[in-house]
Amino acid sequence: MSDSEKKKEKVKVTVIGDGGVGKTSLIQRFTQGTFQKDYIKTIGAQISNYKVDSEEYRIELLFWDIAGQDDFHFLRPSFYRASKAAIIVYSLEENDLGMRSFENILTWQTDVKEFCGDIPILIFANKVDLINEERVNKAQLQNYINKHNFLKYFITSALTGQGVHEAFNFLIKKLKKERRDISP
Ligand code: GTP
Repeated sequence: MSDSEKKKEKVKVTVIGDGGVGKTSLIQRFTQGTFQKDYIKTIGAQISNYKVDSEEYRIELLFWDIAGQDDFHFLRPSFYRASKAAIIVYSLEENDLGMRSFENILTWQTDVKEFCGDIPILIFANKVDLINEERVNKAQLQNYINKHNFLKYFITSALTGQGVHEAFNFLIKKLKKERRDISP
């Protein structure tokens, strides 16, 4: 099938989490070279595109990342509107930023539920390069994921690239599968 015959669809994915946890860096790492970035001041979002092709359709993923958190409260409805999936990023670094970013995951989840309903949410535990990975209690993290109905967690580093492609590709696979399931 030629590109022009393919069904085309845009899929919005919001990427949230506390300031400084690495949201922008993760998106940049994944979309390296192939992405166009746009900055929309009025809705406080930076948007990165990523095209996924299959035989019959082309999905254009739009990753929405908060551009500065200052006025976010007022921008929330438009920021979240029509998202098909969300990624909540926290930082594994062993300091205040890291701890707070983990504690705030549930606040971000509440936001997603309020504005997007029951969409899949992935957790990215980022900046693993700053710690000894053995210190991450993976069984405990998995329990947390199950308890709060997140889809899956990934351990990532935007700096070294560890886990980044695996994490985003899991999401892409899931979104592709959803397309297949609803196609006739
Ligand atoms: P806001 O725009 O404030 O919401 O931040 P953000 O979540 O988009 O974080 P950003 O990508 O701007 O990264 C914040 C800082 O952390 C930058 O100095 C990055 O270089 C650094 N950083 C991001 N990811 C990693 C990582 O995996 N490892 C390390 N060591 N540093 C990282």
